[in-house]
Amino acid sequence: AVRIRLFFGVAPDLATTPAVLPQTKAVAVSLEETAREYRAVAAGGVAVAVDRERGIFSVFRANGETLFAGVDLFWDRDRSATLTAGMDEDSHFYGLGEKTGFLGKKGERYEMWNSDVYEPHVPDISALYQSIPLLIHFRSGGTGAAYGVFLDDPGRTAFDMRTSPDRYAIQSENGNLDLYVLEGPTLKDVVKRYAGLTGKPPMPPRWAIGYQQSRYSYMNEEEVLSIARTMREKRIPCDVIYLDIHYMDEYRVFTWDPERFPDPKGMMRQLKEMGFRVVPIVDPGVKQDPKYPVYVEGVREGYFCKKLEGETFIGNVWPGPSAFTDYTDDRAAKWWGDLHQFYIDHGIEGIWNDMNEPSVFNTASKTMDVDVVHANGGNPKTHGEWHNLYGMLMSKATYEGMARGLGGERPFVLTRAGYAGIQRYAAVWTGDNRSYWEHLAMSIPMVLNLGLSGVAFAGPDIGGFSHHASGELVARWTQAGALFPFCRNHSAIDTPHQEPWVYGERVEAICREYLGLRYRLMPYLYSLFYEATSTGLPIVRPLLLEYPEDANVANLCDQFLLGRDLLAAPILRPGTTARSVYLPEGEWLDFWTGERLEGGRFVLAQAPLEVMPLYVRA
Ligand code: GLC
Repeated sequence: AVRIRLFFGVAPDLATTPAVLPQTKAVAVSLEETAREYRAVAAGGVAVAVDRERGIFSVFRANGETLFAGVDLFWDRDRSATLTAGMDEDSHFYGLGEKTGFLGKKGERYEMWNSDVYEPHVPDISALYQSIPLLIHFRSGGTGAAYGVFLDDPGRTAFDMRTSPDRYAIQSENGNLDLYVLEGPTLKDVVKRYAGLTGKPPMPPRWAIGYQQSRYSYMNEEEVLSIARTMREKRIPCDVIYLDIHYMDEYRVFTWDPERFPDPKGMMRQLKEMGFRVVPIVDPGVKQDPKYPVYVEGVREGYFCKKLEGETFIGNVWPGPSAFTDYTDDRAAKWWGDLHQFYIDHGIEGIWNDMNEPSVFNTASKTMDVDVVHANGGNPKTHGEWHNLYGMLMSKATYEGMARGLGGERPFVLTRAGYAGIQRYAAVWTGDNRSYWEHLAMSIPMVLNLGLSGVAFAGPDIGGFSHHASGELVARWTQAGALFPFCRNHSAIDTPHQEPWVYGERVEAICREYLGLRYRLMPYLYSLFYEATSTGLPIVRPLLLEYPEDANVANLCDQFLLGRDLLAAPILRPGTTARSVYLPEGEWLDFWTGERLEGGRFVLAQAPLEVMPLYVRA
């Protein structure tokens, strides 16, 4: 990778953000100067040419081939920056983390600004909970090498592949162009280099790869225990039950509601006997309450985020007016992490971080005021500059606190918000989707692009969060979701229950079969997680990643690969009992019938409700 800083006026802070790992390898670079340009050439690697007059730069491979072809660079009066680069008919774009739409991002414009979006996630929504400013530019038909551009700017940024036919634009509201160009030449090389820069996921505990059951909320001890018992009685394999916000005493984090959960230790013991782990939700908002020790200590020690003028920022969330820990301050982050001993003492090994964009109900921006100052070890940043890092630094503090307390056991953290590098600390679920067939379909490209953006451990709320799911939708979503890296069924407070047995015996049997399949595949899945920890490659993959030369798969995202060897073609519409499946070159075996099929063609797969078409590479 080559790092390029472009700034207007005074030289900015040259430190990297917490997204980037310290890079230790020194590379010899030679500099050449001509009347027109400066040229920096790394030994055996990329070359960068900078136009002396206009500041535009281009990046070349060692063999002279152009990767990033800079076209234009300018700062507006408001100091926002725009950089454009060339694209052509063969250009395809991927990555960008958690975005709506299909796999390919050409013709789209997206923003990076972590946002709590309860409205339906439709193509008009340009920013969701995660911001991963990695754009992968790939040219089909062998017309050029793939490369990535990572814009390490945790403020508001945009990627525009829509407005111009021959160039795409990268924009930064703070005018802060801190860019890394990641060479290919293959797509896999780009993904691996990005992992080298921002990190690989740690190995999760094996139970976190299992099926997980959630609801907003299982309201009390009896309900939690009855869900657990029913799972076992009905032989639905399941490792985890979630506790949403009602477990807390008036939504105070690190507490139990004394009426709903009068004997948490007893409940935990019974769940453990049945083989369940419990993952409670922990939101960043700390209830403003002079009798609540966490709030009092946070204020006294100066751990909460403050406005520029010095008063604590207070915003409304579930507990009402609340303060927010400043995770850029190492002392505050350590304090927050250590508070999790409360959960560890109850036998808890996993934590669910939510609302960490942060979501704030009563500000116009729906988040923290942009003039809040993050201390950042004496190198302060405004919230406007570092908004997109808030959730990741919360998950980092959580992961590290859990790791300290668990004495060698692997912690599990699930997060809604994140930034580049989030994979080092947490798995990602894709937030408040709905029980729409369209959202089942969209969950595939969303998880695939997250995987191409470093986040291998991801998945949607299976069955959909809000809206009412039909049994047919839950059956089809469970079939697909059983092969997603993160596999959790979750539903909202005002919706009907969504556990696998709610819709009668037929749907229950289908869920049992496919969740059982997940467990039978556990050695394969576990190996893929291990591969992700060592290479950064995703666990579920678009066919494109394994067959980049095949023009049929450039935007194919109603099918996906689990690793290299399993190809799933889920049913994504109601009342559908057959679908076309594209089998890439080579021989494939129908997983259910064993039939051998020649690839490099479309086949028609029969798919009654009991069947999700599935193939094994011969
Ligand atoms: C947010 C989360 C959702 C959770 C709810 C209550 O909407 O995205 O998963 O159930 O808050 O905590």
